[in-house]
Amino acid sequence: AMELSLRPRYLAEYIGQSKAKENLKIYIDAAKMRKEALDHVLLYGPPGLGKTTLSNIIANELGVNLRTTSGPAIERPGDLAALLTNLQEGDVLFIDEIHRLHRTVEEVLYPAMEDFALDIMIGKGPSARSVRLDLPPFTLIGATTRAGLLSAPLRDRFGVISRLEFYTVDELAYIVSRSAEIFDIAIIGEASEEIAMRSRGTPRIANRLLKRVRDYAQVRGDGIITHEIAKSALELQQVDPVGLDSIDHKMLLAMMTTFAGRPVGLDTIAASIGEESQTIEDVYEPYLMQIGFLQRTPRGRIATDQAYRHLGMPIPER
Ligand code: ADE
Repeated sequence: AMELSLRPRYLAEYIGQSKAKENLKIYIDAAKMRKEALDHVLLYGPPGLGKTTLSNIIANELGVNLRTTSGPAIERPGDLAALLTNLQEGDVLFIDEIHRLHRTVEEVLYPAMEDFALDIMIGKGPSARSVRLDLPPFTLIGATTRAGLLSAPLRDRFGVISRLEFYTVDELAYIVSRSAEIFDIAIIGEASEEIAMRSRGTPRIANRLLKRVRDYAQVRGDGIITHEIAKSALELQQVDPVGLDSIDHKMLLAMMTTFAGRPVGLDTIAASIGEESQTIEDVYEPYLMQIGFLQRTPRGRIATDQAYRHLGMPIPER
């Protein structure tokens, strides 16, 4: 309930992502004026930037129902057929992690997206035939960490493709202040900014850190989140001044020491620190690249001079 009440319900309350927001507002208004379903929307970008929140807002702004599911949750074509046949005209179907749809399910989705039709096989063997069922016009919103993970035919069926960006410190500070107000947490402006600086451009992280700092303020202080309290709490949680955690540190240090600053492949890094390659690629690398600590070269990943300076490591001769 806490997570839901934090979420903005209308585009006007949604902070950041100004380009995506401005474009979506136009397409939503146009669809409403024409009394049509909004075109299918693909939202992509690192986790925690608001893909689920935006899909809730889109349905809310359109005044339609939202059905939520995820790629791996749809096991068989029949599961998707059940979802699609329960939609009402104009409804939004949100599929999180859409890149993880089974092939057989994905094939049912193509005619559904393109023609609002469901092709159902009746019978087996030589007498089997396909029957086409009409569906109400609907909007599919797909979410994924990287658009490149989608098959080309699926990607091509989205009329709107929107990339979510990391938030600025100012935007995150505003989100932290807003969340604090909703929960009746007393917080100083500098403390909101401190949390914002350590949240890796990600509202989900900012809101999580706010809760942990509130705990700290309650137990070690008088409940008020001052700048000092925020800094001590975040330090104790091993979140460094630019938001890097122990996994970022392990990863960068392995690149600097074990691999002596030479370009190194993703899987090699992952194996050396015992993390999943996919997690590193989707969660850790995008932010390290955003702040200029990591570069991807054709021969592998390298840590930048800035990363060496941040960790106090000697910069290698290149
Ligand atoms: N809470 C989480 N993300 C938000 C956003 N983008 N705007 C406002 N509040 C939020």
